Amino acid sequence: MTQSTKFSTTRSEISGHAIKDLAERFGTPCYFYDAQTICDRIEQLRQFDVIRFAQKANSNLAVLDLVRRNGVVVDAVSSGEVFRAQKAGFDYTGTPSPIVYTADIFDREALDLVVENGLHVNVGSPDMIEQYGQRVPSGEITLRINPGFGHGHSAKTNTGGDSSKHGIWHEELDECLQLAAKYQVTVTGLHMHIGSGTDFEHLSQVCEAMKTTALKVGSTIRVISAGGGLPTPYRDSDVGLDVDRYYQLWDKTRKELEAEFGHAISLEIEPGRFLVAESGFLLTEIRAVKKMGKNLFYLVDAGFNNLARPILYGAYHPMSIAFSGGGSEETQPVIVGGPLCESGDIFTQEEGGFVCSRELPVAAVGDYLVIECAGAYGYVMSSNYNSKPFAAEVLLDGDSAHLIRRRQTPEDLVLGESIPAS
Ligand code: LLP
Repeated sequence: MTQSTKFSTTRSEISGHAIKDLAERFGTPCYFYDAQTICDRIEQLRQFDVIRFAQKANSNLAVLDLVRRNGVVVDAVSSGEVFRAQKAGFDYTGTPSPIVYTADIFDREALDLVVENGLHVNVGSPDMIEQYGQRVPSGEITLRINPGFGHGHSAKTNTGGDSSKHGIWHEELDECLQLAAKYQVTVTGLHMHIGSGTDFEHLSQVCEAMKTTALKVGSTIRVISAGGGLPTPYRDSDVGLDVDRYYQLWDKTRKELEAEFGHAISLEIEPGRFLVAESGFLLTEIRAVKKMGKNLFYLVDAGFNNLARPILYGAYHPMSIAFSGGGSEETQPVIVGGPLCESGDIFTQEEGGFVCSRELPVAAVGDYLVIECAGAYGYVMSSNYNSKPFAAEVLLDGDSAHLIRRRQTPEDLVLGESIPAS
């Protein structure tokens, strides 16, 4: 099967910077993020009272700093993400909470961090309420509710329904409220995130579930969060989210609750991918062009150690070629793979591991292959498999290109390891 392409299949620049120059200056593989695209996406969501960036999508300090300077707060799923947020200039406490810890468990380190710094917690399991209540009696929490249904671009990114481990099961609400009451802990808000890469119909179903749940909890509710999951157009056929329509649905729900409770309710949104996916490009160099029977492969210097979404979910990323020299107008079907010693190290594959080809320009060793829409869940899901170093990351801001993370060195790869003395 041949995959369709979204953007033009050749490009010579990323955000006004010549690709050849970027490759020569920063090397490959390298991630580039366009600051303006991130700012534009933030502006699209301004109607919401609070935009909370799900930093799991891209937690480089420079990206966190950029969103912070644009009035965005963050979500953290681990003590590591709390640490990053704090390093990027977010305070621990404030209104709205600059950092919210949202997870289904507290590991011991995270619980200590939360307690010591008064962080707000969005609780995803009854055990978390118990553990929080013991340490912070009379505290305040929000509840992440699993409304009993979910959706996502892949079964692996569906976070609702009874096969999902996420959130508090909607029918367990009463028990959870009792548990909170046992420690005089107040439930000040509700949050629902049904999955990633979902669509308008599914996202909007959440409003009704939110209203029903909020009415059960009562007037202690002051914040509701629509979660993330806003889709990004990766393919030609993908339709972007109608943000106004989506906001209006949530605003209506919020107003109904305000009328019921007689006080203001803050409306939060918690996108990851929507803010950063389209800003990101993974620049690779073609290092081999080889025929295997009827198939032609472009093997590039990045693999699933750099971008795991294709092997994990069969995720589609647009691709283009930048010629290092002349170049050709002609295209051909190719399979794009990486350097790893693993058959699944293929960027053109569908869920289930089925390898596909992509119509791309005729290219040669030394030309560049750009994997697009790679700013979310790209670098952050990298590994050192096959002892490949993590790529560099660069923030493109107008005419400037800032190195925001240097490429790992061989020494970095063995950092912290030791051979027992004999
Ligand atoms: N809020 C919560 C509580 C979440 O668990 C997530 C994503 C988000 C917000 C942000 O979702 P987004 O707007 O980015 O869809 N690695 C997968 C995505 C996993 C998402 C996990 N949680 C991928 O590459 O598609």
